[in-house]
Amino acid sequence: MPHSDISLPRLIAHRGLSARAPENTLTAVREAKRAGCDWVELDVQLLGDGTPVIWHDNGVRRCSNSRGKLVKLTLDKARALDVGSWFHKDYAGERMATLEEMLALIGSLDMGLNLELKVNQGRSGQALVEAALPMALQALPADQLIVSCFDAQTLGAARALQRDAELLRIGLLYDKLPADWQRQAERLDAFSLHLNWRKLKKNNARTIKDAGYALFCYTPNDPVAFHPTWEWGVDGVISDDPSLFTHYLPDA
Ligand code: G3P
Ligand code: MG
Repeated sequence: MPHSDISLPRLIAHRGLSARAPENTLTAVREAKRAGCDWVELDVQLLGDGTPVIWHDNGVRRCSNSRGKLVKLTLDKARALDVGSWFHKDYAGERMATLEEMLALIGSLDMGLNLELKVNQGRSGQALVEAALPMALQALPADQLIVSCFDAQTLGAARALQRDAELLRIGLLYDKLPADWQRQAERLDAFSLHLNWRKLKKNNARTIKDAGYALFCYTPNDPVAFHPTWEWGVDGVISDDPSLFTHYLPDA
């Protein structure tokens, strides 16, 4: 589905402003806004009790003061974790955000959200879609939400839940662009492609843009190295620190 007339986010803070605050937290989103970035990318998955939370990993070891699998946690146990100290002592006491409270914050800050459905090992994409998507669709205007996922089947479940492409913008996430990407994009009535910038090829970027899809790159953090890639028609970057890119943005 061509979307070339729509204004697109140029700078998206990856996991919030994750270069300067603990990733995927309320603070990381507030910091993104403070840094002048109006869009964030965040990961969502389910706790063991089915609560959708903003979290990237399968486990909590890397980004909390504890260890174990996310799927083993209830909301009470997850809330008891300190998810800020691992980053810096100034963030001690930061709590894992539920999707619900994160959506409320993003709405109150009038920000846009690229919500990545994170289907980690052995988890059900369908259950995640059913728990997270209605909440997100209700909380944010359709043009301030892009739902992305590496798993096309999960995106299929999202599209089945909301068939109107105007009301649900779907982003196909790939590491390296597969040969059948266009078939998948058409099947899902996708809005955008989200690609690893280090593996993106100029001819692929042109084909994607010519087909009318928005094109986002993750996760460039070096604006000088990335600069030539803008010329290929990239619409926006998903960066740990988008403020680095403000002086390197080409004219829209
Ligand atoms: O959505 C882009 C990017 O976040 C995908 O990779 O592992 O950082 O969630 P990851
Ligand atoms: Mg992500």
